Amino acid sequence: MPETWRALERECAQCRECALCQTRHSVVFGTGNPQAEVLLVGEAPGANEDEQGIPFVGRAGKFLDDMLAIIGLDRTKVYITNIVKCRPPGNRDPLNVEQDACIGYLYRQIALIRPKILVCLGRVAAKRLIDPKFLITKERGQWRDVDGMRVMATYHPSALLRDPAKRPEAFDDLKSLQREIERVCPNTALDRPWEAGPPSS
Ligand code: URA
Repeated sequence: MPETWRALERECAQCRECALCQTRHSVVFGTGNPQAEVLLVGEAPGANEDEQGIPFVGRAGKFLDDMLAIIGLDRTKVYITNIVKCRPPGNRDPLNVEQDACIGYLYRQIALIRPKILVCLGRVAAKRLIDPKFLITKERGQWRDVDGMRVMATYHPSALLRDPAKRPEAFDDLKSLQREIERVCPNTALDRPWEAGPPSS
């Protein structure tokens, strides 16, 4: 990895730009491949993430892994991070002042990764990265061009755990993501176990 990525990670790990630094256990910088063509952005770490220092390791994280597997992806093929890198107490939404303090780290991550595709996981990321008036129920699944990236938002995995009725729409979004990856991400090899044929006896 170029030194700049490590330098950014080190700087972020020492951040004291907002009050979340007083209650955090870890700074959750991100996980996956910093050279990935696909970047997934959630909201903020929860209790499990704060404990382990890795994004999406709780129940929602397991569900996200299952979602990725549906389209032949795993954590080694994407990069995953959040709008805010430290846990908001009580799992509340990150405040605007916290997002403002933290968003520079995400912009710098984006500048280093230079992803072809950015997927916002949920309302908070979509409002911050696409449009402050973004309506997740109406605008999810729609592709836009933002700063040279193809950008789309889908439901947050926690929302899909809470409300299984949303899962068919999320599945449509995943299939759309899969098609977009095939179109614009030549270096992202999707697993296709269903095309491998039956196991030989
Ligand atoms: N929810 C998020 O938005 N991010 C995480 O890392 C975990 C849960």
